[in-house]
Amino acid sequence: MKKTYKWGIIGLGRIAHSFVEGLKILPNATCYAVAARSLEKAEVFKKEHGFQKAFGSYAEMLADPDLDVVYIATTNNLHFEHTMLSLEAGKAVLCEKPFASDLSQVLQMVDKAREKKCFLMEALWSRFIPSMTQFKAQAESGVIRQPLLLQCNFGFVSPFDPFKRVYDPELGGGSVPDIGIYPIFTAMYLFGKPESISVTSVPAPTGTDWTTAIVFKHKEKEISVLTSSFEMVLDNEARLYGEEGCLKLHSMFHIPTKLSLRKNDGTETEIPVEMTGNGYNYEAAEVMDCLDKGLIESPGMPHAFSIDLIKVIDEVVQKAAKSY
Ligand SMILES: NC(=O)c1ccc[n+]([C@@H]2O[C@H](COP(=O)([O-])OP(=O)(O)OC[C@H]3O[C@@H](n4cnc5c(N)ncnc54)[C@H](OP(=O)(O)O)[C@@H]3O)[C@@H](O)[C@H]2O)c1
Repeated sequence: MKKTYKWGIIGLGRIAHSFVEGLKILPNATCYAVAARSLEKAEVFKKEHGFQKAFGSYAEMLADPDLDVVYIATTNNLHFEHTMLSLEAGKAVLCEKPFASDLSQVLQMVDKAREKKCFLMEALWSRFIPSMTQFKAQAESGVIRQPLLLQCNFGFVSPFDPFKRVYDPELGGGSVPDIGIYPIFTAMYLFGKPESISVTSVPAPTGTDWTTAIVFKHKEKEISVLTSSFEMVLDNEARLYGEEGCLKLHSMFHIPTKLSLRKNDGTETEIPVEMTGNGYNYEAAEVMDCLDKGLIESPGMPHAFSIDLIKVIDEVVQKAAKSY
């Protein structure tokens, strides 16, 4: 019989609600504990989602000896602190994207996971969603022959408010760390780490990036053209052009979605992809598969990938600021 894992959630904001909907459909996951800065909020969340325990402090929840694995859903600037706390307490960790504020923090998190022999993975849920994994598998199958160009963008209107998480530099705001990470991830998942990076960006009044355009050149001379924005609704698709056609992840490309193929003669077909749940179930299932195998990192989203990803994000954010 498969082991059942007791999950705890740190930070009960918007995404925590979506994540637990995915968790609930997994038979080997127990919705065990939740922690917020206020006990009242944790009690409400516990009741709404059928958890067993509520805590008014993150540290108190981490001291619970029965807790196996923690999902960290606090603001970007706090991922480092809460991951280190959780690993120090000996818990397995799934931490929201971006993994931390910069490369040095990610390196310390990975070192701590190795020292404590605890599992650690960045919660880049798209990596495990079947439409995304099929996108890559189809590209590798040769259906468009040699892939040459990825066009991918993520944009919506987030009305400006200096106190909002996505505009607050103190909370790690900016379109690149928050949503640009998905096109960047998609390019690196398909083509590997870019060999060159060009960036042009427009700042919001708080100095965080508002709209950013990125061009990568990869090892085999593939090009990625990526955009993120909180100022406008973009098409939110991922289009991979090759010598013999185009594979498209329809809007929203980073969530469970439709995948289609257009050949150069104009014929278009949908590629069927089987999916269950709201998408967050796949990353949670990956965590538990790895724990079953006694792994401290996921083969699908290894530490090395997260290190490369934060290096690229650091460079994009620095180049964006220089272009203002
Ligand atoms: N995977 C995805 O699809 C996805 C989508 C959106 C966001 N995210 C990521 O998930 C994380 C949370 O995003 P969200 O949209 O859920 O944000 P949110 O609704 O603002 O929630 C953030 C949580 O952070 C906690 N927090 C602790 N200290 C805080 C402080 N000083 N100021 C503000 N919040 C503080 C709060 O937890 P308490 O409950 O303890 O008060 C709050 O509930 C971010 O890292 C974001 O990048 C992922």
